[in-house]
Amino acid sequence: MVKKNTCVFISGQGSNLKNLIYRSRDSSFPIKISLIISNNKKAKGIDYAKKYKIPYIYIDTRVREYDNKIFLNLKKYKISFICLAGYMKIVSSKLVNHYKKKIINIHPSLLPKFKGLDTFNRVLKNKEIKTGCTVHFVNEKLDGGNAITKKIFFINDSDDEQILKKKTQNLEYKAFPEAIIKVFRNI
Ligand code: GRF
Repeated sequence: MVKKNTCVFISGQGSNLKNLIYRSRDSSFPIKISLIISNNKKAKGIDYAKKYKIPYIYIDTRVREYDNKIFLNLKKYKISFICLAGYMKIVSSKLVNHYKKKIINIHPSLLPKFKGLDTFNRVLKNKEIKTGCTVHFVNEKLDGGNAITKKIFFINDSDDEQILKKKTQNLEYKAFPEAIIKVFRNI
């Protein structure tokens, strides 16, 4: 099986990145993480790039022309698939169009509910009975695009934001690899 050269975009902790690195070591897993892009110099996720000797670059997305730098690197590493894993920046429409159906994102809610930030707080305030995570194709709208995989759990009365985050992230570590397998199964 020829693994797809994949770039993971991050901005922070990188726990999903770490999980994908582990999963992608399996010979039957469809992707190889060939590049990591971070728009945060201090992202903890960069440590995983160093530890597992995966090429990484920091891109300052506050400057003009940053998108060109992204494209140049995606080309250099022959990237054919992109995973957004806690990347806190809306990607350009040029990138979305270039990687149509080849760029996916993970979001900590049951989309289309609770798009955007501050998810867990809003879930609790809204007195939801269940929540979870969604892996979806990326389109030009914030947290838009068709869902690939969703994972759900029921909320306990005692659950606070931290507990919701923990439970959601544990599901994310199952959902992201599953979604990737699903994307390539359907090609
Ligand atoms: C995840 O909860 C993901 O759903 C959201 O950002 C968080 C990233 O966590 N988009 P990590 O950086 O993978 O630990």
